[in-house]
Amino acid sequence: MPCLQVRKNPKTTNHLYNDLAWLWPVWGDAADYADYCRHVTGLIRQHAGRRVSTLLDIGCGGGKNILNLKKEYTVTGMDLSPVMLAQAKQLNPECAFFQGDMRSFSHDQTFDAILMDDAISYMNCRKDFEVAFRTAHAHLKPGGVMVVTADVTKETFQQNHTTTTPASRDGLEVVFVENVYDPDPTDDQYETTIVYLIRDHGRLLIETDHWILGVFSLDTWRTVLRETGFGVHEGKYTLNGENYTTFTCVKS
Ligand SMILES: C[S@@+](CC[C@H](N)C(=O)[O-])C[C@H]1O[C@@H](n2cnc3c(N)ncnc32)[C@H](O)[C@@H]1O
Repeated sequence: MPCLQVRKNPKTTNHLYNDLAWLWPVWGDAADYADYCRHVTGLIRQHAGRRVSTLLDIGCGGGKNILNLKKEYTVTGMDLSPVMLAQAKQLNPECAFFQGDMRSFSHDQTFDAILMDDAISYMNCRKDFEVAFRTAHAHLKPGGVMVVTADVTKETFQQNHTTTTPASRDGLEVVFVENVYDPDPTDDQYETTIVYLIRDHGRLLIETDHWILGVFSLDTWRTVLRETGFGVHEGKYTLNGENYTTFTCVKS
């Protein structure tokens, strides 16, 4: 019994964006992001109420989206992790970057467009979820557009779902085993646990990561985005047979 209690709430570890960030380039090429970026560009073109030339990528990670989007826009990247920002800068030396928390950053520039891709789930309570969108809204120009895709919602969450992604690069072979689990479906949180099986020229290293992430219903997304002050357009994006809801949010 005491053991179970101790193990009930393992802590967020966040190795992937810090000491294990060197694994990030192995996990998918920038070319894999091209189709999603074309989708984003199409939505911006369709819904923006102004000419779009500048774009802020919030939670830009290693800069793979930026590599694709910089063909269309002058892109600035921001992220919480200085290690991820260093990777993004190496991939996109001509772009500007700054470090910040999506809940609280204050930048001296506003943008024509904002992308939040695969990062909003780190907002694991309703308050942070709302504040992150308010902060993004404050950094958009009138008529500007924010595109954000829900990685997971209450409606799409699959209990105890595990994906296995093998990848290799420069003599490194890595298997990413990712499991999602919701210990309490009545709240707004779930757990993501990743096991990394890393073989460096055949020698095995096993690492793990664990996060408490946020999951909200589609109705909560709609309500929060509207209350933030956005006009909201909803669409679908399909990747590997999975449907994701994309919100294109226009600042009036
Ligand atoms: C799964 S990665 C996605 C990176 C990139 N958007 C992509 O799709 O390739 C999530 C990123 O969100 C960043 N992140 C997490 N919490 C954040 C916060 N509070 N503010 C800004 N960035 C954050 C992490 O550091 C990480 O780089």
